[in-house]
Amino acid sequence: MSDTLEAIQHAALAEIAAAAESRALEQLRVNYLGKKGRVTELLKQLGAMAPDERKAFGDRVNKVKDLIAAAIQHRSTQLLQAELAARLASETIDVTLPGRGDGVGGLHPLTRTLQRIERLFNELGFETMDGPEIEDDFHNFGALNIPELHPARAMQDTFYVDNGARVLRTHTSPVQIRTMQAVVAAGRTPPIRIICPGRVYRVDSDRTHSPMFHQVEGLYVAENVRFSDLKYDLQTFLSRFFEQDVEALFRPSYFPFVEPGADVHMRWRDPSKGPDHPGRWLELLGCGMVHPKVFEAVGIDPEKYTGYAFGMGVERLTMLRYGVDDLRLFFNNDLRFLRQFA
Ligand code: DAH
Repeated sequence: MSDTLEAIQHAALAEIAAAAESRALEQLRVNYLGKKGRVTELLKQLGAMAPDERKAFGDRVNKVKDLIAAAIQHRSTQLLQAELAARLASETIDVTLPGRGDGVGGLHPLTRTLQRIERLFNELGFETMDGPEIEDDFHNFGALNIPELHPARAMQDTFYVDNGARVLRTHTSPVQIRTMQAVVAAGRTPPIRIICPGRVYRVDSDRTHSPMFHQVEGLYVAENVRFSDLKYDLQTFLSRFFEQDVEALFRPSYFPFVEPGADVHMRWRDPSKGPDHPGRWLELLGCGMVHPKVFEAVGIDPEKYTGYAFGMGVERLTMLRYGVDDLRLFFNNDLRFLRQFA
């Protein structure tokens, strides 16, 4: 019987030492020490032995059991280390290789245009102002001399919120009102020379209209501001924006908050049609001299001060500058489109 024990120990240690991978080692553990393992089977013979014999044999079997368990543990550590070393060797990475990366990204074309407009007007002495996108009736309409029954207030143009108590601003013109009110409230007086870039909202959607779009509002109030100041400043801005001598046309137009009011058109030549082609007149923006009623609404003396105002569509200017013919491209988030501007 002791021969058997020694034989088992001998065989086990040899097999453990020869095991080439963790899985084989686990199988050896089952074979020797598992419930039906060879060592475990020996322990089952104890019951049939005389008490003194039993103790001596039990001790020996347990020693062999511990020996085998220790050998398995030892070999297991060896194998794990070898497996790790093999993996490290086969999976080496060259950390000095340049990464593939995701690209650096870029600014949205509308953001680029907004920043460009802002920079050009800042250079002309305009300060950038901000205003809320959810407006009240007074700032969006009333103070701008837009009468109660003006079509701009009709449901199809305006998004109403708070059960009609407030609106999503339909233009950036309310910032004119807020700016002048703030100047008066602070006890200051004109000159005021500001622009306001921002989002505006209208119930409108097609190739050239989006329910959300961007405008830049301008306002210049001082003593003796004249229509020629408006013409000069806008002409200067447009030529700098398009980097060419822009031919601008001021055509009389109606906006309730200016008098006189005008639409500004620029001559647009398709480069593919050559320099002699007359091109066509494209409407760019609305403008005019601040209406006395607007001054009265904010508490500025219309006898002492005059001013001009303008409002331009940012999508329009972006489409012209980059030759984009469908406004919806700006909002579809198609990377094939957006990457062209990055
Ligand atoms: N608020 C006008 C609109 O959204 C644009 C506009 C026209 C603004 C004339 C002005 C202006 O400041 O003087 O259609």
